[in-house]
Amino acid sequence: MKNSVSYIGPEEIIRKKNEFLIPCVYHFYNEPMQIVRGEGQYLFDHHEKRYLDFYGGVSVLSAGHCHPEIVEKISEQVKTLQHTTTIYLTQPIVDLAEKLAQIAPGSLRRSFFCASGSEANEGALLLSQLYTGRHEFLSLYNSLHGRTKLTMSVTGLKFWRTDSNPVGGISFVPGAYCYRCIFNLKYPDCNIECARQIENVIEKSTSGEVAALIVEPIQGNGGIITPPDEYFTIVREILNKHGILLITDEVQTGFGRTGKMFAIEHSGVEPDIMTFAKAIANGTPVGGFITNDKIASSYKRPGASTFGGNPVTCVAAMATLDVIDKYNLVKNAETMGKYLKDKLRSLQDRYALIGDVRGRGLMLGAELVNQDKEPATKETDTILEYMKDRGVLIGKTGASRNVLTFQPPLIITKDSIDEVTDVLEGALSYVEKHKE
Ligand SMILES: Cc1ncc(COP(=O)(O)O)c(C=O)c1O
Repeated sequence: MKNSVSYIGPEEIIRKKNEFLIPCVYHFYNEPMQIVRGEGQYLFDHHEKRYLDFYGGVSVLSAGHCHPEIVEKISEQVKTLQHTTTIYLTQPIVDLAEKLAQIAPGSLRRSFFCASGSEANEGALLLSQLYTGRHEFLSLYNSLHGRTKLTMSVTGLKFWRTDSNPVGGISFVPGAYCYRCIFNLKYPDCNIECARQIENVIEKSTSGEVAALIVEPIQGNGGIITPPDEYFTIVREILNKHGILLITDEVQTGFGRTGKMFAIEHSGVEPDIMTFAKAIANGTPVGGFITNDKIASSYKRPGASTFGGNPVTCVAAMATLDVIDKYNLVKNAETMGKYLKDKLRSLQDRYALIGDVRGRGLMLGAELVNQDKEPATKETDTILEYMKDRGVLIGKTGASRNVLTFQPPLIITKDSIDEVTDVLEGALSYVEKHKE
C-alpha cells in the first residue's frame, strides 16, 4: 500500500483534468475523492477512507475489486504473453469463445471480440446489415448503446447524443417505461401497447426493410427501465413477421447481474445477436458479440480488432467467469437483489421522494420525484453526495438524472445492503428536512 503523502489528491487531479483532458470527461460529486485502491466490495481513497461500492464501476466489478483469483491469472499471463493480435494463433481467445458458446442462450455460439461495448454494438449492427442485406435500424427511447457515430445514433437519450448529425435510417420506438407510460396505460391492462407500437413504426416510418432492432433487456442509463417478461415475446413475434433481427445489448445486464446469466433469459426469447462487455472481464477491457452459425456465416470478409482476443484480457474473462461459477454469483445476485429490492420498497412506503423501485437481481433503481412525478434531479445529487460522505457510493441514471442506481459487486452480503439502506434512509430524511 502506498503512503498517502505520495498521492496528488483530488484538487490536483481536477487541475490536471481541466488542463489535459477533453472537457467531456466529467465526474460525480461536488467534493470528489481520489480513489487509490479496491478490495472486494470496497474502494479506498488517498486518506484510506473506506467506501462501500454499490456502483461497481458502472456494472463492471461483478466479482468485486481486485479479486485474488482473477488477479493471479492476469499476472501470470502478463508475465508470459501480453499481445499478438488475431493474425497469430493463441489459446485464450478460443477457450473464451468456447466458454461463451456454453453459457449463451440457445444457438448463439460464434463470437467476435473487441475492447468495448460501443465497438461490440457497432459490430453487431454491421453484422445484421451483412446478413439481411438491409440498412435501417430500430431502437428504443431511453436507450444507450455507445459513443461511436452509429451507436450514438441508435442511442435514445438526449444526454448522451452529442452528435447533432446522426446516421440516418434509424427509427425510435417507445420502450416499456411503465412508471411514465407514454400511452397513459397501466400494466397489465395495457396489453403491452409499447411492444405493439413497433409494428406501427415499421409500417409508418421505415421503408419496411429494417435490418435489426437493438435493445437493452433492462435499460441501464435510461434509469433501470425494466419491461414486463411478455414484452420480448411480443417484440420477437413482430420482428419475425418482418424479417428483422433482434440484437440484445447485454453490455450492462450480462454475466449474472440480473439473477440470470443474461437478462434476456428472463423472457425465454432467444436473440439473433447478443453483445457484451463490462462485467465479462471484471475491469479489463473485453467486448464482443455472439451469434448463431447461420448469421455468422454472412461475415467472411476480413474483420480484426487489434485488442480483440488479447491473451491477457481473455484470460481475465475466463477467470471472471470461473469465479462467477465457483461462488454461485448469479444465484447471489438473485437472492441479494430480492433482499435489496424489498428494503428499497419499504423505504418507498415511508418516503414520498421515492416514486418507483424497479429492476432485477442486483440491477436496481429508485426513481426520485417531487409532486406530480416531477423528476427530483437536485435531490438525487444531494443524496449521492450525502451517501458518499458517509462512505457509500451509488449511481444515478435516467433521462432526467433522477434515478438512484444500485449495481454492486455480485459478491455482496446482507450486511452491506443493510449499511447502504441505513445510509440511504439518513439521506432521504435529510433531504425531506431541508426541503425549501
Ligand atoms: C447498455 C450499454 N451499451 C453500450 C455501452 C457502451 O459501452 P462502452 O462504454 O464500453 O463503449 C454502455 C456503457 O455504459 C451501456 O451501458
